[in-house]
Amino acid sequence: MIKRSKITGIGHYVPENIVTNQDLEKLMDTTDAWIVERTGIRQRRFFNPETDTVANMSAKATHMALERAGLQAKDIDFIILATITPDYFFPGSGVLLQRELGLKEIGALDIRNACSGFIYSLSIADQFIKTGMYKNILVVGAEIQSSAMDLSDAGRTVSVIFGDGAGAVIMQPDDRPDAGILSTHLHSDGRHAEELYIKDPGSSRHVRLNKDMIDQQGIRAHMNGNMVFKHAIVRFQEVIKEALEANNLQKEAIDLLIPHQANLRISNYVQEQLGLSDDKIYNNIMRYGNTTAASIPIAMSEAWAEGKIKENDLICLAAFGSGFTWASALIKW
Ligand code: UT7
Repeated sequence: MIKRSKITGIGHYVPENIVTNQDLEKLMDTTDAWIVERTGIRQRRFFNPETDTVANMSAKATHMALERAGLQAKDIDFIILATITPDYFFPGSGVLLQRELGLKEIGALDIRNACSGFIYSLSIADQFIKTGMYKNILVVGAEIQSSAMDLSDAGRTVSVIFGDGAGAVIMQPDDRPDAGILSTHLHSDGRHAEELYIKDPGSSRHVRLNKDMIDQQGIRAHMNGNMVFKHAIVRFQEVIKEALEANNLQKEAIDLLIPHQANLRISNYVQEQLGLSDDKIYNNIMRYGNTTAASIPIAMSEAWAEGKIKENDLICLAAFGSGFTWASALIKW
């Protein structure tokens, strides 16, 4: 029998520095009322350049996940790290996490699928466990987005949304029949790559980074917010329905939907369209903003700690973001 995989421990870490909407009001032409109404966000965390790195935030989230799984770092036999904000251009931050955790020479894979990166990573880990190749996989989503934000008026549409943080899960084989990760569903449409991207520095130019690129804001995140929003509300619903259909389940079977925390209006719309009551969706964007690949594992970690994820619950994860990429996972906890 092919084994399924399951999540046996979840943890998260967010930087100590809380940045409220009122703090942003002092830096740019924005208001708490606008940010709350358009995004639901009230505060986010920004990293401390003296102490926080993607790798060490990931390690802190990992230690919490390991403790909850009852494992030690040395038990991990493979690392998958989803981030679009690695500490270096290369190598990826997966090896830095391996070093940070003091692990033996196990494999470390970096995934760059933005907001969908955590579900893509979960899917890869699931396949490795099903084939029996690995038994204790660490899957992390971690981002430092704030260092790419333009905190002046010109960057206000993007910079009020994003935040920093890390979330981690431990995945192991599941001996129960019909439980664990039931299915994962991954999609992309690269026609829209430039609707949400950071252009520079890039390799396909004569010089990877010069003053012009900096002056023209190429190193900042560019987002066509309206267009991303319109695609997001459709793709979220589609990919959730795809997951339910693949398992012959109805939406009423979902105990908790944990959507990527992109915008509270997007989550509310998806909730309404699916007819889910408030206790069947988990949102924490109010406290952390959009932390890209980290948002789902941070939310899962908090939901679990609050007792909102229990054994045998049906948990649905769904994400949409840059690429465009979108994805879902259905888990019998
Ligand atoms: O996780 C990755 C996926 N990302 C997403 O899913 C994000 C999807 N998009 C969104 O969440 C929304 O499009 C935003 C929150 C980014 C923007 O909200 P919006 O309702 O689409 O606003 P808008 O861009 O259409 O701007 C409306 C107005 C504009 O003013 P005018 O032209 O109507 O006078 C903007 O200049 O709001 C203005 N505005 C702001 N005002 C105060 C834009 N940003 C701000 C700001 N503070 N921070």
